[in-house]
Amino acid sequence: MPWKRRAFASRNLTRALNIADLRDLARRSVPGFVFEYVESGAEDEMTISGNREALRRLRLLPQTLVNTSGRQLRSTILGRPANAPLVIAPTGLNGLLHRDGDVILARAAAQLGIPYTLSTVSTTLLEEVASRAGGRLWMQLYVVKERAVPREIMRRAAAAGYEALVFTTDANVFGNREWDQRGYRAPGKPTLRASLDALRHPRWLWEVLLRHGLPRFRNLEPFVPANLTPMGASTVIPRLFDATIDWNDIGWIREHWPGKLLLKGVLSAADAERAAALGADGIVVSNHGGRQLDYCVAPIEVLPEIKAAAGGRLAVLIDGGFRRGTDVVKALALGAEAVLLGRATLYGLIAGGARGVDRALAILTSEIDRVLGQLGCNSIAELTPGHVRGA
Ligand SMILES: Cc1cc2nc3c(=O)[nH]c(=O)nc-3n(C[C@H](O)[C@H](O)[C@H](O)COP(=O)(O)O)c2cc1C
Repeated sequence: MPWKRRAFASRNLTRALNIADLRDLARRSVPGFVFEYVESGAEDEMTISGNREALRRLRLLPQTLVNTSGRQLRSTILGRPANAPLVIAPTGLNGLLHRDGDVILARAAAQLGIPYTLSTVSTTLLEEVASRAGGRLWMQLYVVKERAVPREIMRRAAAAGYEALVFTTDANVFGNREWDQRGYRAPGKPTLRASLDALRHPRWLWEVLLRHGLPRFRNLEPFVPANLTPMGASTVIPRLFDATIDWNDIGWIREHWPGKLLLKGVLSAADAERAAALGADGIVVSNHGGRQLDYCVAPIEVLPEIKAAAGGRLAVLIDGGFRRGTDVVKALALGAEAVLLGRATLYGLIAGGARGVDRALAILTSEIDRVLGQLGCNSIAELTPGHVRGA
């Protein structure tokens, strides 16, 4: 990028005061169909708006006149120290947003000292992310019909040193994402309107599509058609998903996965009980950021009852709509061990690559730190459900 344009981009990034500002920058940086891929949800997107509304409804109750000069954000995630109570969530097709998206996100997480979760449908090989980024890496697993795929992913992730497997349990049936399909005539074939839109974003067109060829599903290469690219692939991916997955598959996963196991997509106390009984190490209370079931409960609404059911048996993590430090603090106070960031860090990635992701993480960590102090706490461990009203 010429220096003038780079200087302009980094000035814009420092002017982004919050995640919403980064989102605005991101929206302007890529063609509409790419932004919609990130932003969109299933059907009427009531789950997406519900995630935000449920967080907004909660109010914080501070304790006053507490010396909070010794504040720090260190915490423990899955039994190991982390510098902030955050994890970067698995998001597929990051290469469509930025050529080196997976590695950039993983490096930013490693630099901050938090885990990064690589999606099964990533556009970078899991081994490459491990060798180029390092840090704490978690591997997300989609169990697809062709069982050789998840078996291979588990074997390779274990060999590459991934610490945890995040088994996504809410993708037995693929969500109905209508926005996602509008930009394409067929997989890999954008509509005329989308093509013109791409031409209006020459930097994205050059960096993502033209310079190195279309991004591909690198982890799945032996199993998906060689010419399948992430563009419009949401019409192909649903056919891969396996509606037969059930609780018996936990045993099957345990046979193939030696590390920590998290189940992502748990939304009820009964399912948390089952996860604990089957020996999972943790759960992610999640509705897939509103991309699967529409009119789904918000994770933050069910967190208290799930936490009560899990007791100390499971690490309880959460995601869905977290855009502010206050959002994160609410979840931590209600018992979450950490919050997974989905779109928040993707906005940073689109808006400014590595600097944009760093900016997103810096915004959130400074907001969490400030809120902690304002509540009268010096550490994450001091947060209690008493700090939240309206749960
Ligand atoms: C663009 C995008 C791609 C995603 N891809 C995956 C995926 O491959 N696997 C998965 O388990 N979840 C996936 N998710 C869901 C996220 O892991 C996470 O649950 C969700 O984004 C959290 O909500 P938030 O975006 O509001 O923070 C994806 C989400 C987005 C926005």
